[in-house]
Amino acid sequence: MIDKQSLHGEWSSRFAFILAATGSAVGLGNIWKFPYIAGENGGSAFVMVYVVCVVLMGIPIMMAETMLGRRAKQNPVATMQTLTKEAGADTRWQYLAWMGMVAGFLILSYYSVIAGWASAYTLKAVMGDFFGSDAQKTSVMFAEFISSPIRLIFWHSFFMLATMIIVSKGIRNGLERAVQMLMPVLFVMMFLLVGYAMTTSGYSQGLHFLFSPDFSKITGKVVLTAIGQAFFSLGLGMGTMMIYGAYLPKNVSIAKSTIIVASADTIVALLAGIAIFPIVFANGLQPDSGPGLVFETLPIAFGNMTGGWLFGVLFFIMLVVAALTSSIALIEPAVAWLIESKEMTRDQACVRAGLVAWVLGFVTVLSFNRWADVHFFGQTLFELIDALTANIMLPAGGFAIAIFAGWMMKQPHTEQELALPTMQYKIWKVLISYVAPAGVFLIFLHVVGVL
Ligand code: PHE
Repeated sequence: MIDKQSLHGEWSSRFAFILAATGSAVGLGNIWKFPYIAGENGGSAFVMVYVVCVVLMGIPIMMAETMLGRRAKQNPVATMQTLTKEAGADTRWQYLAWMGMVAGFLILSYYSVIAGWASAYTLKAVMGDFFGSDAQKTSVMFAEFISSPIRLIFWHSFFMLATMIIVSKGIRNGLERAVQMLMPVLFVMMFLLVGYAMTTSGYSQGLHFLFSPDFSKITGKVVLTAIGQAFFSLGLGMGTMMIYGAYLPKNVSIAKSTIIVASADTIVALLAGIAIFPIVFANGLQPDSGPGLVFETLPIAFGNMTGGWLFGVLFFIMLVVAALTSSIALIEPAVAWLIESKEMTRDQACVRAGLVAWVLGFVTVLSFNRWADVHFFGQTLFELIDALTANIMLPAGGFAIAIFAGWMMKQPHTEQELALPTMQYKIWKVLISYVAPAGVFLIFLHVVGVL
């Protein structure tokens, strides 16, 4: 059982895994979401808590989730079934994987809609629509854009189709080849944009907003949002790292690779902040303007800077690319499950899973126009799906993974899989058994008002 191969093949190398996992981690979460929720949650206060969450909970759980996948080398549901048997634990642990798959569909459903916005904005950039923009013009352009359900559905369909095509080609020819081409492009463009931000008049104010510590702004909501964002951005708690781990050759160090992935992810999020906030401040925009932030702010910069046309086109291509390498990771657990358990071909599995997420996506599309006034608990349907998945399902999944890896699995098995020097293993063991689960748990208690 332990030495078996994944049905779907393996990554060709450690580097391929790192790229794919970084591709999964780096996405809309870093470039679109991180800046706007940092902006809504007090900037630097949020950034501080976020980084602490990544180090104390994110990295140990990322190691654990990857380890579970590599040990069983199957889709997340079967992986949990195999591992509970091996550990002699309750079979209900497999619900963890089911919850993850549901979370994956929900996230992908809105992810694809937002990635659709980025695709549409790529075209606007190419057409020169941002030329001479000011804050007024870009806000109107964005409001007008999201007001049309048909247009949003068109771009959502376009993006979902692209995801399905890549995933249908399999591990090496689809996922791996895509990230190998796309990731380097993304990093280069990120640095170019930061370079531009440094030349704007809002640069020091932007840096101040993101990095000068302000403990007074740390509230329960800031902490919950930060931990949710850490899970979301690292792509944890829903089976993605489990399935990517299942494709990981046995001799690769899980610890080293996941630390590289988590660091790269955090760096990109911070770079996105450094690129965006100076432009926000230089143009008198509000940092807390919500999901439209990058769509309303950056076009101003692109519309007025030298070479802005090129930068604009590059930026939105980068956003689409980053989203693609994450959307394939969001759908892969369900695809692997359909292939293994329902005996479908990869093509059939992609079509089924893609269709489910596509239809679910209509809820998000409508929540920005026709259903904009439909509120539950004071939130639109999009905000609700986002909060339910990022702030509840992913941390809950991560919590369960931590408990399973820390308390249920036999120590010799985790030792063997992680293959770490004694001291480092002990640090991981303490983090995964106590620190990470306690952290998630306390935050939940705080939010439901018990503390
Ligand atoms: N990490 C991705 C992002 O930041 C989203 C994602 C979540 C991907 C969960 C895979 C799993 O955009």
